Amino acid sequence: MAKIVLQLLLALSLFGADVFVQKCVRCHTRRHLPLKPIFFDYLLYYSSERGVKKAMLRNLTQPDPKRMLVKNRKPYKHPFSQKTLRKALDIYWEKYKVIGKIR
Ligand code: HEC
Repeated sequence: MAKIVLQLLLALSLFGADVFVQKCVRCHTRRHLPLKPIFFDYLLYYSSERGVKKAMLRNLTQPDPKRMLVKNRKPYKHPFSQKTLRKALDIYWEKYKVIGKIR
C-alpha cells in the first residue's frame, strides 16, 4: 500500500515538475521545430539569461516577425499565462544553459 502511494506521489511530482515537456516540447516536436537549436540562436543573439528570457517572453506573447528568430514562419501567439511561460522558460534555460558548464 505504502509503495503504491509513493509511486503515485512520484508520478504526480514528475508530472507537475515538467511544464516545459508537457506544454512546449510536444507541439514543437510535432511541428519539427526543435527547441534546442532555437535556444542556441537566442543565446548567441541575446547572450545573458535575462536577455534570453525577456526576449522569449515578448516574442511568445507578442510575436512580431521583425524580432523573431525563427524565420519564414507565421508568427504563433503562444496561448499561455505569463506565469506558465516564466516557469517553462526557467526549465528551458536550466536544460540547455551552457554558462557554468564550460569551465
Ligand atoms: C501548439 C504548438 C506550440 C506550443 C504548445 C508551443 N509552441 Fe513555441 N512555437 C510554435 C510555432 C508554430 C513556432 C514558430 C512560429 C513563431 O516563431 O511564432 C514557435 C516558436 C517558438 C519560439 C521561437 C520564437 C521566435 O523567435 O521565432 C520559442 C522560443 C518557442 N516557440 C518556445 C516555446 C515554449 C517555451 C513553449 C511552452 C511554454 C512553446 N513554445 C509552446 C508552436 C508551439
